[in-house]
Amino acid sequence: MRYAALVVSIVGMLVFAGFASFHSMSIVGVSAGWIAAAFAALTALGVYDLLQRHHALKRNYPILANIRFVLEKVRPEIRQYFLESDLDGTPFNRTKRAVVYQRAKKALETRPFGTEKDVYATGYEWLAHSLAPARVVDHDFRVRVGGPDCEHPYDISLFNISAMSFGSLSANAIRALNKGAKIGGFAHDTGEGGFSAYHREFGGDIIWEIGSGYFGCRKPAETPQTVVTAADERQIEQPRRREYQFCEEKFTALAASPQIKMIEIKLSQGAKPGHGGVLPGKKVTPEIAAARDVEVGVDCVSPAAHSAFSTPLEMMAFIAKLRKLSGGKPVGFKLCVGHKTEFMALCKAMVESGVAPDFIVIDGKEGGTGAAPLEFTDHIGYPLREGLTFAHNCLVGAGLRGRVKLGASGRVVTAFDIARTLSLGADWCNAARGFMFAVGCVQSQSCHTDRCPTGVATQNKWRQRAIVVPDKAQRVANFHAGTLHALGELIAAAGVTHPAQVGRERVMRRASSTKVESFAEVYPQIEAGCLLNGRADAEYAALWEQADPASFQPKPRVKAAA
Ligand SMILES: Cc1cc2nc3c(=O)[nH]c(=O)nc-3n(C[C@H](O)[C@H](O)[C@H](O)COP(=O)(O)O)c2cc1C
Ligand code: SF4
Repeated sequence: MRYAALVVSIVGMLVFAGFASFHSMSIVGVSAGWIAAAFAALTALGVYDLLQRHHALKRNYPILANIRFVLEKVRPEIRQYFLESDLDGTPFNRTKRAVVYQRAKKALETRPFGTEKDVYATGYEWLAHSLAPARVVDHDFRVRVGGPDCEHPYDISLFNISAMSFGSLSANAIRALNKGAKIGGFAHDTGEGGFSAYHREFGGDIIWEIGSGYFGCRKPAETPQTVVTAADERQIEQPRRREYQFCEEKFTALAASPQIKMIEIKLSQGAKPGHGGVLPGKKVTPEIAAARDVEVGVDCVSPAAHSAFSTPLEMMAFIAKLRKLSGGKPVGFKLCVGHKTEFMALCKAMVESGVAPDFIVIDGKEGGTGAAPLEFTDHIGYPLREGLTFAHNCLVGAGLRGRVKLGASGRVVTAFDIARTLSLGADWCNAARGFMFAVGCVQSQSCHTDRCPTGVATQNKWRQRAIVVPDKAQRVANFHAGTLHALGELIAAAGVTHPAQVGRERVMRRASSTKVESFAEVYPQIEAGCLLNGRADAEYAALWEQADPASFQPKPRVKAAA
């Protein structure tokens, strides 16, 4: 049975080859010779399957096993096109994707007949409306970033394009996003891959992200690297892969660009916190090399950790340095919360040094990436809600919240997503994949293969031709404007005039079939200054005690006397 297909192919090949040589016979217009050739091809495939050593299934089921591999390949498309319901589909269900497509195209976005959601299911969420709806006239919601130390504060929109590098996205996708940001007057984060020519072409506001590779502002490391031999732990100096470090001169020159409105140090992202990256040399094209200030064709490494600082206090000094070198632009950092004591150590360093970042962006575990190992995307880092509430509470408890603004990202796509995230403490939201949908992404999830069907995440010139930049740029701007318009309507129904007024008590969540809680109960806030005046609860107090501004490592716990 296992070899049935191979046997049939051999028999078919012999029989039809016989017919072809003795009679010029044909079956439904196809000559016996062609049929024999088809069977011969199948026989060759079967023999190859039998002999190859890579797939056990093909060795046991020659020819037949190939059907499984073909079905496996088209499974995502079959599921998306034929089987998926409107509320199915991950990471973004069809309804969420459709909202983006419709807003981007300015197509009708009202729904007939009522919600499809099960409003009695645990986890269902809604915003409490008011019997006295407010009137919101201007939907261009903004918040000022940059404290007294900033000479150039930036009034950032409440909805912006999250960090995605040129390299993970195509040139045309970057151009469309930046032109869209220009049309709509919102910010576009470069991602850690540098401020490329495509980010500059249309002049949309830029947040320049600086990762551990310092692309665009780096120079070869001055000190030789040391490695520890495993055998006897002697420090031995030896050359290894060329290392790079932050370059003040290059940073100063680039940060002076009026297009750059804020500078963001990337500590981590939710989809792969603590994981560096290597862009293999063969993918480092002249364009990418120019954007990153690296050598063409040479592996381009983003180490897991920064070399410009190694303690929270050193990091604050680095922030102060960047602010000075940039001529007083807002400087902040982005991270996914990991060890809670580390975040508290950063807050302690702010208190101790008197230097605070102008903003922090909290990225949730649910965030996206161009490519990351499965264990990282699935199991490392705090999800947005917990990470954001913790960060907000720490800043409040350390008396810093007035100085430091909070951005947030992690599957924020609709106006309700924004309102909910702001209620947890964010001042604004960023979206990466939402804006990818606006430029045409269909969530085929093949970004890492360089075969993106829509030209969004590929360096293949032919594939990126699919993106007509002026058209997609307008869609990006429409999606942004449509979402903020919807946000305005939503908060007006809730009885407030600015999204910042949406408090946790207005967002409701079903805890069970009979119990509903507000976010104020689910995510409790802490008292202003309580970490400094000793009034914090036991959990926060213990973490604060352990946090060390001179090290990312926590202080050892003091054991209670027996
Ligand atoms: C294709 C892609 C590339 C990304 N590149 C970066 C990057 O260079 N730097 C960074 O901080 N985050 C990067 N991210 C993470 C996003 O900026 C964002 O934090 C995360 O995807 C959450 O937003 P979302 O849920 O709206 O996608 C990337 C995400 C995607 C999808
Ligand atoms: S269409 Fe697919 S491959 Fe292209 S960006 Fe979207 S998810 Fe990635």
